[in-house]
Amino acid sequence: MKGLILAGGAGTRLRPITYTSAKQLVPVANTPILFYGLQSMVDAGITEIGIIVGDTASEVRSAVGDGSRWGAFITYIPQDEPLGLAHCVLIARDFLGNDEFVMYLGDNLLEQDLSTFVRAFHDDPERPAAQILLKSVPDPHRFGVAELDGSGDVLRLVEKPAEPASDLALVGVYLFDATIHKAVRAIGPSARGELEITDAVQWLVDNRFRVRAQLLDGWWIDTGKLTPLLEANRLLLERIETRIEGEVDGSSTIDGRVIIEQGAQVIRSRIRGPVAIAAGSRIVDSYIGPYTAIGPDCEVDHSEVEHSVLLERVKITDVPRLQDSLIGRDAVVTRSQSRPKALRLMVGDHSQIDVE
Ligand code: TTP
Repeated sequence: MKGLILAGGAGTRLRPITYTSAKQLVPVANTPILFYGLQSMVDAGITEIGIIVGDTASEVRSAVGDGSRWGAFITYIPQDEPLGLAHCVLIARDFLGNDEFVMYLGDNLLEQDLSTFVRAFHDDPERPAAQILLKSVPDPHRFGVAELDGSGDVLRLVEKPAEPASDLALVGVYLFDATIHKAVRAIGPSARGELEITDAVQWLVDNRFRVRAQLLDGWWIDTGKLTPLLEANRLLLERIETRIEGEVDGSSTIDGRVIIEQGAQVIRSRIRGPVAIAAGSRIVDSYIGPYTAIGPDCEVDHSEVEHSVLLERVKITDVPRLQDSLIGRDAVVTRSQSRPKALRLMVGDHSQIDVE
């Protein structure tokens, strides 16, 4: 069995971060989102993995390399334009051959690894052409939604329905056999101009191929927007174990589970976990509250930060309280000392700022 990870796409819902960076490489709990998916595939015994890459191909390639860090063998498959999830299957044909494969959306995170899902597919005596994964959600109209028959087989899939037939949302992980290649060739683009995977799966159902659904117990997050991304950061920080390899001076206090990497410094500050502070960062006269991940080489000085993600080399100075925030690389947030007191901003396109 092979793996296909989708790490192209436009990432419009996570601008401005995605103007300069792949959304799949945004770190949660200081590890790029994509790495969790990769690890989960390898844990399920899948090591031959194709990665679909778009405009951010070089960044993805330099982060993942040849996959040897995970014991995987990576093939990069360039996609000139984000023409849809089914288009990704279409262009991966040579890599996939006639093998069965797991398709995984590179910005999705699942609590459990893929083993149970893969095993259920393998152990099914009447192996279906496709197996999809579903999660019961309170707001199904925002997702692809499945309608099932009594035995758990799929009858219908609808993308973002106005009146959902169930509360079962399509999770970004699919298992396919080679029949899917016929389906992606048979369908045409949707109203938004993409080859939709829901249409390809519906084609399987309409042509009497069996599509089975499995329900997911653990959490699942599509991290493509700010709020779910912070939620993923919170859930993954919940899992960390304390590891203090950096310097913490005698006037600082550390509560709860905290990672302070080698080369990081905490001076006259209070850290209340779960918190991860990456190598080279300095926290001075500050408070870092729960569910905060501070990337490498950041400086937080005379400030309070909580429930936030800071990417590399961020500087936060004299900010009384920063929370629920995602701060991009090399960004500087500071409190103005001069009069008149005013917000002075240099903000990129599509930024979001909430003032008090
Ligand atoms: P989406 O989040 O559905 O699409 P997007 O990345 O274009 O984001 P937005 O809607 O905010 O503009 O994509 C799910 C995953 O699949 C994500 O990791 C990107 C990837 N993808 C591709 O690799 N190629 C594609 O053609 C599309 C549509 C998505």
